[in-house]
Amino acid sequence: MDLDALKVALAASPQNIPLLMLVGKLHEDRFELADARDCFDRVLVLQPDHGEALVAIARLLDLAGESSEAMVRLEALCAKQPRLAAAWMLRARIALDEGDGASARAFYDTAVDLDRSQADDELLQAILKAGGNKKVAMTSAGTIREEEDDDDGNPFEGMDAVAARDLDLEFRVRADIKFDGVGGMNKVKDDIRMKIIHPLKNPDLFAAYGKKAGGGVLLYGPPGCGKTLMARATAGEIDAAFFSVGLHQVLDMYIGESEQKLHKIFELARKSAPAVLFFDETDALAADRRDLRHSAGRNLINQFLSELDGANSANDGLLILGATNAPWHLDGAFLRPGRFDRIIFVPPPDTAAREDIVKIHAKGKPLADFDPADLAKRCEGFSGADLKAVFDLATEAALAEAMKKGSLIPVSGKMLAKAAKDVKPSTRKWFESAKNHALYANQSGFYDDVLVYLGLKK
Ligand SMILES: Nc1ncnc2c1ncn2[C@@H]1O[C@H](COP(=O)(O)OP(=O)(O)OP(=O)(O)O)[C@@H](O)[C@H]1O
Ligand SMILES: [Mg+2]
Repeated sequence: MDLDALKVALAASPQNIPLLMLVGKLHEDRFELADARDCFDRVLVLQPDHGEALVAIARLLDLAGESSEAMVRLEALCAKQPRLAAAWMLRARIALDEGDGASARAFYDTAVDLDRSQADDELLQAILKAGGNKKVAMTSAGTIREEEDDDDGNPFEGMDAVAARDLDLEFRVRADIKFDGVGGMNKVKDDIRMKIIHPLKNPDLFAAYGKKAGGGVLLYGPPGCGKTLMARATAGEIDAAFFSVGLHQVLDMYIGESEQKLHKIFELARKSAPAVLFFDETDALAADRRDLRHSAGRNLINQFLSELDGANSANDGLLILGATNAPWHLDGAFLRPGRFDRIIFVPPPDTAAREDIVKIHAKGKPLADFDPADLAKRCEGFSGADLKAVFDLATEAALAEAMKKGSLIPVSGKMLAKAAKDVKPSTRKWFESAKNHALYANQSGFYDDVLVYLGLKK
């Protein structure tokens, strides 16, 4: 990126915080630490509690060899803004440099718990080598727990968090989005409300109808249409524990240990009920038993099935959410009642849903002549992820022009319309495979919704 052009832009709008952060970072990358510091300081003048700028300054101090000063500042920052993952992560790096593997591990885990995208395998490996393999029971995250404690009836126990970490589970203490951050998908939202949110709020009413919280919901559909996003939003919406299981975490075990691990995961979730247990890319675990030559895989599937069945109402209060874009790899046994008893097709968003989604993507961006309805109409067949790509492309165009003109240029309706032309809908390929399965392997009407969507069935 052209630093000079950005500086021109900055001169034209000296109060632009994102621009200041960007220029600061570029200076930092060139090791122009004083110039970088100047930018971050200016951000703090405008907004004294700007977390990212505070972390950046600590990083500069560390780069300049003043790591203890950096640590002192970070400790204070984490006390004030305990949910700032980047601050915890920097503490992990500095602790590692100082040879304190155990603290580094605790800081690292806290950062990743807060923000999964902070995960850094290389760093983790280095921490493990430095002796950070013992799980330090939340010394660092203590602050977080304290903060949570004033939430009435918060179901999260520190012990659960530690147990989850031992199982490599993603333990979401508080999610970043809620249902209103997911456009469309009203049917899915209703189903999830019916299965876990309402029953927890009105236990007596549901008991009167012999209904309990929990059950199994499987989402399937083309990529990028919000399945994973929906699960994250569920975590934000419910007043219950939420565990997210990446399947490689289960499968990467030595043969025979996977079943054990899966059992422990279910046990942990049951103990924390009401809880949501989310399996992403479910097909990886639930692959058709006939596809698996190794008996180990077959055992794992059988284990999964029996966990889903949960002897004697063990699964009460447990909502099991699954997501996949290859439902044809699922073993039919998963789809029997009592297991994943609700199977929901998540299609690409219709026009109204696209309008919702573009409004969500538009939040917080400088826009001019933005007409959500018009943009939604131009994006027939786009997935939620495609719509995001439209915004990314248009934003780049605005940024390029801003650098040319040296002033802040908003993202215009025109730029969005042009981007909508350049982005190609990505769901078509999925429908090509789905169509074959739907036409030739539509046991008990499993794919009826897909056929209706394709206009092949009424
Ligand atoms: N309904 C939606 N509302 C808002 N944003 C959406 C929606 N659907 C998709 N997106 C955007 O697209 C991104 C990708 O969506 P997500 O990861 O949930 O897709 P997915 O259905 O899980 O895809 P895959 O099958 O490939 O895992 C989201 O992070 C979000 O930015
Ligand atoms: Mg997904």
